[in-house]
Amino acid sequence: MSMFKSYFGLGATEAPVYDSPPRLLPASWYSSKDTYELERRAVFSRKWLLTTHKLRFPKTGDWLKFNIAGYAFILVRDRDGNVNAFHNICRHRAFPVVTEDGGSARIFSCQYHGWSYGLNGKLAKAPHYQELDGFDKNQNGLFPIHVHVDTNGFVWLNLDADDKPANSWKRDFDGIDLKPRFDGFDFEEYDFDSGWESVGEYNWKTIADNYNENHQHHTDNAGPFTINTHGSIPQIAKALRNASNYYFPNAYMTVSPYAFFMQRFVPTGPTTTAVRYEIYRHKDTSDEDFEHTHEAYKLMVSEDESVYNETQKNISNRVSTDGELQPRNENSPIYFQSIVRDLVEQHEEIERQSQGEVWPARQRLPQEAAVSKDDMDFCSKLTEEGGGCCGGKACGAGPAPGPATAPEIMVS
Ligand code: FES
Repeated sequence: MSMFKSYFGLGATEAPVYDSPPRLLPASWYSSKDTYELERRAVFSRKWLLTTHKLRFPKTGDWLKFNIAGYAFILVRDRDGNVNAFHNICRHRAFPVVTEDGGSARIFSCQYHGWSYGLNGKLAKAPHYQELDGFDKNQNGLFPIHVHVDTNGFVWLNLDADDKPANSWKRDFDGIDLKPRFDGFDFEEYDFDSGWESVGEYNWKTIADNYNENHQHHTDNAGPFTINTHGSIPQIAKALRNASNYYFPNAYMTVSPYAFFMQRFVPTGPTTTAVRYEIYRHKDTSDEDFEHTHEAYKLMVSEDESVYNETQKNISNRVSTDGELQPRNENSPIYFQSIVRDLVEQHEEIERQSQGEVWPARQRLPQEAAVSKDDMDFCSKLTEEGGGCCGGKACGAGPAPGPATAPEIMVS
């Protein structure tokens, strides 16, 4: 790992030297349900996830629904101007608090039995509960998610349920928003334009591998970004030349003076991925420049769709195992895969020591929830005896995992 860090400008400057080509992650990591579930715990519950930009929440109460790897959540701008994030789970009986994709609200009201929550997630009303002793509204707000809005207004989330996530944003991405590549860009001067989604039959790493191979060449102080797509028109490089970056685990961003583009590879299952795009237009961009940039971007991102689908078919057919990578030409996918491998192996070790699955995003029970604790312990005993109702002895939150040692800045 240290060799890769050095090569990518995160440490020393020497390129790695290999005696033999490193091997790809095995095919099973791209199709197995168990691996996917482990990645939900080891990667998507622990790492900071670049999700959107605060420009999407211009007014108090503006909200959007998101999901990633089976975790559904809401982002909302509160009355103090902060962007908050909450799991989209009603504290009563777990119905989604919102079912639309977005909107503007003064309060969130669950449609099932009418519990309602403020923009800060606090429980505002629970019909008929005022008659009950021992019901504490303060213990029944929406489950919060850690949010970090960086200097440029990009919104990052971390699903770790602890008060402080094991991996701080600073540790993972300190200074990423202050890189020279962003010099001259004022993100307040852009407006959200549009978004779209494409859905593919491939594992999220299949497309991430491809992006890390084809869409970037980089060093911290490199000159204009060079796009190396298969046979792309030269205008693409011209239009999108300024700042493109991959942010581990699953986000990609391209910034130009005319527009900036966010792209996220959202796992929806072991072999399905939704690719979500957001486009932001500079306020001074002419229609012509915007259309040209937009078209160039769409061409760039649409070129490889068949590559992902066809690759995944062979990965999933139980013939393919793994391949050997060319260290010089395929350094980016090697680096990406090495981070995934490190995180998964670290988490598996934590689970081995805990004798069961550890879900960092799982919310902690309040101290006084003795009945629930007993129920969960009962479930754990069934698991030990082979029933497996909740995935292991540590079917509660388990011990807080320490910070992952792998770096998160995929490309700096
Ligand atoms: S599940 Fe939301 S009010 Fe009952």
